[in-house]
Amino acid sequence: MFRPYNFGPGPAQLPDVVLNKASKELFDWNNSGMSPMELGHRGSDFKKIIEKCLANASELLNLPSTHRLLFMQGGARAQNAIIPMNLLNERRLCDFVVTGYWSEQTAREALKYGITNISASSEGEFVSIPSTSSWLVNKKTSYIHICSNETVHGVEFFEWPNLTSIERENIPLVVDMSSNILSKRMDFTKIGLAYASAQKNIGPAGLTLVIVNEELLQDRSNRGLGICPTVFDYRNLIKTNSLYNTPPTFSIYVAGLMFEWLKEKGGVDEIEKINLEKSKLVYETLDSSDFYQTFVSVKFRSRVNIPFFLPNKQLYNFFIEGAKKRGLINLKGHSAVGGLRANLYNSMPIEGVKELVNWLKEFEINYG
Ligand SMILES: Cc1ncc(COP(=O)(O)O)c(C=O)c1O
Repeated sequence: MFRPYNFGPGPAQLPDVVLNKASKELFDWNNSGMSPMELGHRGSDFKKIIEKCLANASELLNLPSTHRLLFMQGGARAQNAIIPMNLLNERRLCDFVVTGYWSEQTAREALKYGITNISASSEGEFVSIPSTSSWLVNKKTSYIHICSNETVHGVEFFEWPNLTSIERENIPLVVDMSSNILSKRMDFTKIGLAYASAQKNIGPAGLTLVIVNEELLQDRSNRGLGICPTVFDYRNLIKTNSLYNTPPTFSIYVAGLMFEWLKEKGGVDEIEKINLEKSKLVYETLDSSDFYQTFVSVKFRSRVNIPFFLPNKQLYNFFIEGAKKRGLINLKGHSAVGGLRANLYNSMPIEGVKELVNWLKEFEINYG
């Protein structure tokens, strides 16, 4: 069967080995005579699945013992409401650094629950990250939110902001990692809370990962709004090991297969090397040409999501149609920025990226 290379922003393609294993086990998981979809979420079989999944994810992420990993639903968008409901203190202040479409959306949603302060913004073009020294973070704020990788604009943090340098080291850093979690090694000791939708680097949509420093949740009188639904209350999820209500069992099962796949590939350090090589191949091709344009400052260019542009609008359809004929799909840019975008999640093999590079070169020869 022909399988195209899917360069879409998510849901991403899954490795063939993962799909093959899932399809083999679809009718019978571990001689249970039941599909993973049919296993009761409180039964011993599913317990094995979720525990292994949690253990492998924690190992791959190198989580410190201070932090808990939770499985939730609702995607990253739901976290934009769930985080303020859990983390706002009595002053209800929360700070945001806006570096693109997604952090802007997050700040907007938080307005419903708290008093938001935009500490810094690269609004206008969203092609860089304002230096931490310029951030104006409220002293009494509940948390400061960043998006570690702006999926739409292609801007990525390569180191965490040094909050000590602006005398805000006691303020929890909250990070939307939806598009670059597990794509490279990250230091979670510096993070108060991180969250990510699954459908890019983790597995199928339906599952959301939340990583939280338990210290933040110790004093209920200090943080959290009474209106937070029980099902979204982090303390409740910690207490029930993410099993307060029925979790997305099949998505958790497939995420578990993805974690096994990543471990077999050598873990996050190895995938980071491959991701670096993949993004280098694309950027080198774009940079060596006067035909293609990129706007993000080199220092902040995402290794995962690469937006790029053609010299005139008439060419886009030819590019997308030609790419499709070569089995390279979903290269259209997000409607907020237009143009084209190559999304290189963990499961995009280097062979797919090489095919894309060949097409970029061929297209330039024909239309440049
Ligand atoms: C960085 C980032 N945050 C949030 C979201 C929203 O995720 P979801 O659709 O799972 O709510 C996306 C989706 O593309 C994203 O890339």
